[in-house]
Amino acid sequence: MNRRRFLLVAAGAAAGAWWLRPQSLGQGGHDSYFEKLSLALKREGLARPTMILDLDRLDQNIETTRRRIRPREFRVVAKSLPSAPLLEYVMARGATRRLMLFHQPFLNAVAKAHSDTELLLGKPMPAAAASRFYEHLETSAFDPTRQLQWLIDSPERLRQYREVAEARETQLTINVEIDVGLRRGGMREPVDLARLLAVIDADPVFRFGGLMGYDAHAALPETLSLRSREFEKVEARYRAFLEVCRRDRPAHQDETSLVLNAAGSPTYQMWNEIDGLANELAVGSGLVKPLNFDLDTLADHVPALFIASPVLKKLDGLEIPAVDVGPLHSLWDPNRARTFFVYGGYWKAAPVSPAGLLSHPIYGRSTNQEMLNGSLEVDLDVDDVVFFRPTQSEFVMLQFGEIAVVRSGRIVDFWKPLPQVA
Ligand SMILES: Cc1ncc(COP(=O)(O)O)c(C=O)c1O
Repeated sequence: MNRRRFLLVAAGAAAGAWWLRPQSLGQGGHDSYFEKLSLALKREGLARPTMILDLDRLDQNIETTRRRIRPREFRVVAKSLPSAPLLEYVMARGATRRLMLFHQPFLNAVAKAHSDTELLLGKPMPAAAASRFYEHLETSAFDPTRQLQWLIDSPERLRQYREVAEARETQLTINVEIDVGLRRGGMREPVDLARLLAVIDADPVFRFGGLMGYDAHAALPETLSLRSREFEKVEARYRAFLEVCRRDRPAHQDETSLVLNAAGSPTYQMWNEIDGLANELAVGSGLVKPLNFDLDTLADHVPALFIASPVLKKLDGLEIPAVDVGPLHSLWDPNRARTFFVYGGYWKAAPVSPAGLLSHPIYGRSTNQEMLNGSLEVDLDVDDVVFFRPTQSEFVMLQFGEIAVVRSGRIVDFWKPLPQVA
């Protein structure tokens, strides 16, 4: 290639690359919703990372869930809404007293704070955790035999729970985990359930409470009918397990007295298509809709949970220590034209407002001062607020000491998360 041709090709490649470079994602400042939230924080003097729960949006999600869950009962997944006042609020508006629990300290806190509830474990707790629950139970208003169903996934765990029951001279209500395709343990085949039921029914320390079959794996895209086909399998497996109960326990035909639990936020609306089988559905995260729940099965739910964090520093350009390439990076990607450092960070969350903020894959994350980049179109200054959406609620809601509760754009209360010890 001669020199002239080489220069032409190089110029062409440069023009092509320039044309391919990323576009600015910035679109100015906050929209009116986030502007109002940021004023609410300023009014309250809250210049630190703050977890925000929007009650108007939560109401909307509770109403949607109630409508969609009918005629089944609504079981609230406590781990995904881990705050006593929040659970009380959801149960009151959701017209239910059923909760699903996954953590022994939460179990103790809930039995104390909401002693009229009916609790179902969502995972099989170690027998020692079950014992500890009884040791730390602080109220006599809650009757575990009547109000609590332990989840059992194997004959061995059932044997351990027998010891717990004997040591405490009490009767335990047992719900059995069935595998409807998630492959996360529990009874794999109907015959396994038949054997376990025989042991439960023969032993007076146990009372059979029902079945729990979680089906999150079926929340697939509907491409090539993947979702419907997987869900048909879920239905068939659930039915086969339930047939075992009907066949082997004819004296206990009253299915309405059993807790036949299914679903979670990603799948509960899929149960609209099915008559019978499960008589209650579990929903938690969908009520606040974190980012991981932006699914088409939850299209009629709205995000209600945000993290707000003040901007501490605003710098021009982007400098990465040791591997700095000067202004080249920002020239190539307009979204790296400015650098912001916010108060805290590295949550399981992504920035959502103002639009167009990105973390940097090489600079790294920080729980102390997180770096974000944005284009010149991002309207953001020191002391302004960046809003993030958590990717999930269960752990993130525990990280802020309290939750700022917003109604009509104003902070109306602060709710404490559930305690982590008991
Ligand atoms: C057994 C069980 N049921 C239901 C759920 C659904 O919870 P969520 O509605 O918060 O997704 C979960 C989530 O992990 C679960 O493990």
